[in-house]
Amino acid sequence: HDLTRSNTLGLPCWAERFAAPETVDQLRRLLQRAAAQGWPVTLLGGGSNLILPQRLSGLVVRPALNHWWLERQGSAVKLHVGAGVEWHPLVMTLAARGLWGTENLALIPGHCGAAPIQNIGAYGVELCELVEAVQVVFMEDGRSAVLTVEECAFGYRDSIFKGELEGRVVITGMTLRLDREAAPRLTYGDLAQRVGPGPTPLEVAEAVCAIRREKLPDPAELGNAGSFFKNPIVEREVAELLLATWPDMPRFELADGRVKLAAGWLIDRCGLKGWRSGHFGVHERQALVLVHFGGGNAEELLAVADAVAERVRERFGVVLEREPRLA
Ligand code: EPU
Repeated sequence: HDLTRSNTLGLPCWAERFAAPETVDQLRRLLQRAAAQGWPVTLLGGGSNLILPQRLSGLVVRPALNHWWLERQGSAVKLHVGAGVEWHPLVMTLAARGLWGTENLALIPGHCGAAPIQNIGAYGVELCELVEAVQVVFMEDGRSAVLTVEECAFGYRDSIFKGELEGRVVITGMTLRLDREAAPRLTYGDLAQRVGPGPTPLEVAEAVCAIRREKLPDPAELGNAGSFFKNPIVEREVAELLLATWPDMPRFELADGRVKLAAGWLIDRCGLKGWRSGHFGVHERQALVLVHFGGGNAEELLAVADAVAERVRERFGVVLEREPRLA
């Protein structure tokens, strides 16, 4: 099964076996079969935050649990959504219905089942602020479980699904809390200027889409996985030392006193914006995004990423961590 078109980086990948279960029962049976046959299982969602190798042995599973429904609770509304639903079209539908909550997360590619893994976040909002529960199936015995938001251990681009539960569960769905009452969050960058006073959720979502389209390449035109590195978090003393040399360095102070730096700025200041090496390069409008011009593979991409991270380490002494996951 060819997965080259099933990952937004457009990396060539051939999977030995592929299945897209439409119900939790089908998923359970597949997991059982894989265990009995000794097939390693690789999970796939929208393939937008993933680095695929050229060959994947065993079984690739892409959950196609495509249901979603709303449950009213006064002005609050609960959204129940299956793992296979595409995130962005859902956000636009909710926003068009006047529901607040997900609008700042418009145009993030991928499926709902992958969203909690890296706790998707943009324009001042992280998914974890909306999550009530995440539904999973354990790979080892097929049992279902529901995790509360606390149990998900969300952090910046992080969750229990990247830690203790990595490789152990399939996310089958999640429950988000939305609101009918106006609750715009417009503190990030120039979002407030772009939408003006008293916006609707749809206006906020459209403004976010416009900002993203200005900076981020469309994977349909140019292979990419969004931000390739996480924004590094450093101790306050480290940030102060850097600021002495680079007073215009963007930074964001966290509640615990540490400071989040902008990896895109660091890469940019190494003169790497628009840099190209072989089939890959640093995007010309957002240095945090690595792009694939076609013809390359995962190995080459990782080498280019290492070269970028090494330049940042040499200049700033800051270590960049990769954001997309290796399959
Ligand atoms: N900057 C530069 N040059 C660049 C890129 C950025 O100087 O090439 C500077 C910007 O001017 C700004 C700062 O760096 O002062 C931060 O840039 P921006 O606001 O564009 O956001 P980011 O930190 O680069 C993060 C997320 C994005 C998310 C945006 C908006 C991570 C790893 N990335 O990017 O998420 O859309 O904030 O909230 O946290 C993704 O994860 O795939 C993603 C696109």
